[in-house]
Amino acid sequence: METFFTASDIESFRNIPTPFYYYNTGLLKRTLQAVTGEAARYNYHIHYAIKANANHKILKIIQTSGVGADCVSGGEIQAAIRAGFHTDKIVFAGVGKADWEINLGLDNNISCFNVESIPELEVINELATTKGKTARIALRINPEVDAHTHSHITTGMRENKFGINLDQLSAVLDKLQTLHSLKLIGAHFHIGSQITEPGPFILLCQKVSQINHDLEKRGITLDNINFGGGLGIDYETPDRRLIPDFKTYFESFHRHFPVKPGQQIHFEPGRSIVGQCGALISRVLYIKEGSFKKFVILDAGFTELIRPALYGAGHKIENLTSTETEDVYDVVGPICESSDCFGKDVRLPRTHRRDLIAIRSAGAYGEIMASQYNCRKLPQAILSS
Ligand code: LLP
Repeated sequence: METFFTASDIESFRNIPTPFYYYNTGLLKRTLQAVTGEAARYNYHIHYAIKANANHKILKIIQTSGVGADCVSGGEIQAAIRAGFHTDKIVFAGVGKADWEINLGLDNNISCFNVESIPELEVINELATTKGKTARIALRINPEVDAHTHSHITTGMRENKFGINLDQLSAVLDKLQTLHSLKLIGAHFHIGSQITEPGPFILLCQKVSQINHDLEKRGITLDNINFGGGLGIDYETPDRRLIPDFKTYFESFHRHFPVKPGQQIHFEPGRSIVGQCGALISRVLYIKEGSFKKFVILDAGFTELIRPALYGAGHKIENLTSTETEDVYDVVGPICESSDCFGKDVRLPRTHRRDLIAIRSAGAYGEIMASQYNCRKLPQAILSS
């Protein structure tokens, strides 16, 4: 089994003020090789979902691998351009695009707007007309596939706010005929995140094949089919699979989705590219022995990593500096809220003040979701050399 931290990494952490994010750039590069290599077998195209981690240095490494960028805000488009992503490899999704964000996309000739409603189509058409431009668009269709993941990160069900419902697709296509500054180039789907079973993806392939077929009957052949992101990672035992199984993932799309001639297939992975490459490093402030529990109180809290508090997500917690016999602790942060807890009844080597604690698999939706609640400073990021 490969180790995520080297002994010299841990030695160097002793001199760095905590909390901070540590990124293993070697692992990131190998993950990028894996995802691009496996996608290339089938000529699939990758757009990294910037929302997972928009750290500038991380974006630069990702951009160098040749993938495109999936953005959900004007700020993300700006971050992508700053990191060197070519604008013809930038797609712009999101259920609520503001006028300035649409204008930014138009001014930069981004490759595609993923559109979620008729009012949005009308606004993009109007803004494109004003500029004398044609906007390339894909329709985000809600395929009504249950991703079997946490309810806060499932997106492909009829009741979710995302996408155009299947029963409204025909009306949307009729409307499109009247909007002359738009060019339909594709369909976009995303059913949810942290999906660890192949079932929902296979169902997605079946639904999209049907849609692809129905559209062809209407005389519409889509240049691009975009399956979104969603591939999950191993939070419980990260070292067992530091690089997600992209081979099986793409193979399953290849087996279950028949591509029409000339059609390009796109994916938007976020978590599976950056998730395992990052860890939140924190110091123990106190060991508090309550009447019922022992608490490890860290100097990191949900301000640095909100996933446990927001989704009840589990991240592996490791003591990097103790090898003593194990004890059982609740590992909590300093924020004045009971939900500021990284794990209950966690087995750790006996832990002391100033020990270094790593919270693993925090490369995705970690640093980028940090907040300044309690007037705390945003965490620094350290990249391995
Ligand atoms: N494409 C679209 C349209 C998306 O909405 C998302 C994620 C992705 C791609 C990337 O999905 P991924 O490959 O990372 O699963 N903050 C939550 C996750 C929210 C995901 C939102 N959309 C978490 O910490 O689990």
